[in-house]
Amino acid sequence: MTTKETIELFDKYVIANYGRLPRVIVKGQGCYMYDADGNEILDMFPGWAVSGLGHCHPKVVQAIQKQAAELLHIDNTFYSEPQGKLAKLLSERAFGGKCFFCNSGAEANEAAMKLARLHTPQEKYKFITAEGSFHGRTFATVTATAQPKYHEGFLPLLPGFIYVPFNDIMALESAFTDEVAAVMVEPIQGEGGINVATAEYLQAIRRLCDEKGAVMILDEVQTGIGRTGKWFGYQHFDVEPDIMTMAKALGGGVAIGTMMAKEEVAASLVPGKHASTFGGNCLACAAGIAVIEVIEGGSLLQNAADLGEYTKEKLSQLKQKHSSIDSVRGIGLMIGVQLNSPCTEIVNKCLEKGLRINCTNETVIRFMPPMIVTKEQIDQAIDILDSVMTELEK
Ligand SMILES: Cc1ncc(COP(=O)(O)O)c(C=O)c1O
Repeated sequence: MTTKETIELFDKYVIANYGRLPRVIVKGQGCYMYDADGNEILDMFPGWAVSGLGHCHPKVVQAIQKQAAELLHIDNTFYSEPQGKLAKLLSERAFGGKCFFCNSGAEANEAAMKLARLHTPQEKYKFITAEGSFHGRTFATVTATAQPKYHEGFLPLLPGFIYVPFNDIMALESAFTDEVAAVMVEPIQGEGGINVATAEYLQAIRRLCDEKGAVMILDEVQTGIGRTGKWFGYQHFDVEPDIMTMAKALGGGVAIGTMMAKEEVAASLVPGKHASTFGGNCLACAAGIAVIEVIEGGSLLQNAADLGEYTKEKLSQLKQKHSSIDSVRGIGLMIGVQLNSPCTEIVNKCLEKGLRINCTNETVIRFMPPMIVTKEQIDQAIDILDSVMTELEK
């Protein structure tokens, strides 16, 4: 099919709830994707942070093919080996918690909020979340998302949500009434513009949750699975949550979400309280196991840490040249370039020149390259960005 024919199909049959770029992607391999017109695109934001190992990692593909031939899906009426194995691998790389499996980040956060309510006394029903956060698009998670633009058209939202400025300990303390069941934050706000939490802030959440008998939830949907150079973002901050959620990169391209909870908290989730038909699906879990093995086998946590530093350094050099760059921030391969002007045009022009990056929160260019990325590919990406910015400044 031609690009035009595919777009016509979408125009006629697919709901237009996404602002799509006029490209049809037909193939992906490593750090590159290919469109229907034969163009090669260097992908520094593959799958919106889903393809953390790049596109179609051969070991993940192989694991999926093997599992597909054995058992694609078995419902949670039974036990299945891949689900148990993946839970063990995740638990051992985090805080030793137990897992509940689902299919997306929003679902994992829903599960986390429901568990926090189940685990705390009934009079505790409120949630504190941070301005600039993003937790998903279901009713509870969009309510938790403290950005008014996502609320438009959906009022009234769920009751009981309190929004506080990110990284502001005093505001947190004064919002923390006895009715609070949980605080939920991202260690690094992704959609909000790559805003890194301070260690003091996360530790204050931990302290206040302990003092008040509330639950600390970390949303690691974007930061988890090695993205920051450690398995989970919280591991940079000398703090441990009670509940953590993950999704995106965990399945290497297959839909999966997970909520992990400390054993004593997890015990509150008993049969009948929460479930997901597809959750812990054999295929998705086999992919998740392969993702973890590939990261470990290829020392990719180290690569994410090293290449993250390299990328930030190169981007900081661009700042000397382009006055529109205000600052560069992030940890590992989760990097934001704060501009003092909108970035959509830059990002679109980069795509024309064969580079995919992302613009978030209007003025932040987001780099989230796969963990297999090389210095040469980073150099290539930054050269394209540099030339586009130079061209637009003329
Ligand atoms: C931090 C965070 N939480 C939750 C979500 C929602 O995940 P999903 O789109 O898989 O429901 C996202 C998606 O971008 C996210 O970045």
